[in-house]
Amino acid sequence: MLSSTYFGTGPLGDGDRGYGRYSNPTWDPFEEALGQLEGATLPGLLYASGLAAVSSALSLVPAGGVLVMPSHSYAGSLVMATELAEKGFLELRTVDIADTDAVLAQLAPADGRPANMLWLESPTNPMLGVADIRALTAAAHAAGAVVVTDNTFSTPLVQQPLTLGSDVVLHSVTKYLSGHSDVVLGALVTSDAGLRATLLHHRTIHGGIAGPFEAWLALRGLRTLALRVERSQASAAVLAERLRTHPRVGSIRFPGLPPIPATNGPRAR
Ligand SMILES: Cc1ncc(COP(=O)(O)O)c(C=O)c1O
Repeated sequence: MLSSTYFGTGPLGDGDRGYGRYSNPTWDPFEEALGQLEGATLPGLLYASGLAAVSSALSLVPAGGVLVMPSHSYAGSLVMATELAEKGFLELRTVDIADTDAVLAQLAPADGRPANMLWLESPTNPMLGVADIRALTAAAHAAGAVVVTDNTFSTPLVQQPLTLGSDVVLHSVTKYLSGHSDVVLGALVTSDAGLRATLLHHRTIHGGIAGPFEAWLALRGLRTLALRVERSQASAAVLAERLRTHPRVGSIRFPGLPPIPATNGPRAR
């Protein structure tokens, strides 16, 4: 709805229908649909961009807390975390997310502080590293950390991190979910009412809200997600096979299959 203010007599606060930064009715159907797709018991939260959602999610790290993050996370997420660490707001530990033992070692090191947040991105953009979400999430919880999983590259049709134990799921809605390259949006989803209230308050106060027209476009795009995911997976499988047998390709990364050495063997470059 293209309106910044609403007539009403109810309370005015996070999520209330009174002012366009608190809520917008056009966000609701997308937030409800994404929540259901991710297997959450609560609606998602739409943001102005994927990075606005990253900023909100990182705000869950307490001052001076420890953040464990994939060394091949999406570059913007990594830059944000690095800059927060450089300012002394948190301690950043980067790890190869596909190396489960290495991540476990960083979550609860014998000679260091346990992590406050485990950031997962699986597969990572662009290196396509795949994390064992269930095992890492269990270990993170045992260490007392909250787990955020960037599910942008998988989509909820391939993987639902909340059902694997993650506390919060993140999307750059800009990508698969909206699917038409006509909007920049982000989203967070959680089934934890306390976490959702904290994130909603952060969105309200920091102002990273979605425009209603973009929200409407994203919902339109979401309706074709299943068709697009199916086709892109089929195309990727064909490409992976073609590249695997190409004489000039040494190796390929394709998370749909175990690591594939090219049939022609790795080549020196
Ligand atoms: C995995 C992943 N997470 C987050 C982002 C950030 O999203 P946005 O560009 O919508 O701010 C991107 C963008 O490329 C991404 O690929």
